[in-house]
Amino acid sequence: MSAPNKSYDPVEVEALKPENIERMRDEALAAFDAAADLDALAQAKTAHAGGTSPLSLANREIGALPPQAKAEAGKRVGMARGQVNKALAARQAVLEAERDERVLVEEAVDVTLPYDRVPSGARHPLTTMMERVADVFVGMGYEIAEGPEAEAEWFNFDALNFTPDHPARQMQDTFFVRGEGQEPGSREDESGIVLRTHTSPVQARTLLDREPPVYVVCPGRVYRTDELDATHTPVFHQIELLAVDEGLTMADLKGTLDHMVQALFGPDMKTRLRPNFFPFTEPSAEMDMVCYVCRGASVGNPERPCRTCGSEGWIELGGCGMVNPKVLVACGVDPEKYSGFAFGFGIERMLMFRHNVEDMRDMVEGDIRFTRPFGMEI
Ligand code: DAH
Repeated sequence: MSAPNKSYDPVEVEALKPENIERMRDEALAAFDAAADLDALAQAKTAHAGGTSPLSLANREIGALPPQAKAEAGKRVGMARGQVNKALAARQAVLEAERDERVLVEEAVDVTLPYDRVPSGARHPLTTMMERVADVFVGMGYEIAEGPEAEAEWFNFDALNFTPDHPARQMQDTFFVRGEGQEPGSREDESGIVLRTHTSPVQARTLLDREPPVYVVCPGRVYRTDELDATHTPVFHQIELLAVDEGLTMADLKGTLDHMVQALFGPDMKTRLRPNFFPFTEPSAEMDMVCYVCRGASVGNPERPCRTCGSEGWIELGGCGMVNPKVLVACGVDPEKYSGFAFGFGIERMLMFRHNVEDMRDMVEGDIRFTRPFGMEI
């Protein structure tokens, strides 16, 4: 009897045939070559070198072969897998290098670009104007006082001596927030709420709050039911002044106004007073200042007309007067001992003639082409 023929191999597994292993290897190499980017390569890797790839599946068949066939198939598959892994690593390196190069170009930072040319923010010219006016008085020892914009009707009208049937209650074109039609003249805590039509209610609040002597300025936003057009806006700004002390007279008011226009418009400026009526001042006056553009030179001089003052020589600024004793009484101040003066005017108007702004809408639209020429002062 002859010895058993160990090289005899009766089993032939289809997947392990040399031509099949070669085909699997070639397909893998072709797929790696075709992968245009790292994502595509990752997919090709799963398909051709992953745990369920044809070569891995073929590899699993080897264990079932008899020894001789096992060695040959193992060598064949091992070599093929080695080539596949090498090709994969090579393609991976090429694609990574390509990606790195691209990223360097795409994400390049131009360090020569200016980094500090972002314009910084700036306050609105109305705010700057209002603070400029307030500063004049703070410099004289006045304090800033504030009040709510949704104001009790009592403060906005009653405390200021607007009688219940006073036409000014309608004239002021008030926004009623609560209690429209409520009995005018009712006490503070039971009166309706309005959007304040002027900053004068802060006068009453301040007098109720502090003991004289009182020297305050009250800048703030006020509301009237006007349509927005070139000369009106339903929301605008006023600044109010109130001084209550012993022995104050109209001369103090006049001197204070002159000082203000000189501080704001130049040393040779002055004001004039014209009789007027306000319920909360007695006597009351309209205050004008010399036209700061023509300084009066346009008056009676057709050769040199002035657009700012309409050749009047004067610009109307606002209202003023001596605090009406009735207001002092309503706020618990003894009118026998104290007297006071007050004035109030619109900031928008002042900005308009100080800077030749012709359309009020420019002030509310928030277009930086309007605000920029006022400078970036913060
Ligand atoms: N509050 C008035 C208005 O809005 C302006 C005013 C007039 C204020 C006379 C005053 C004053 O303080 O004394 O029309």
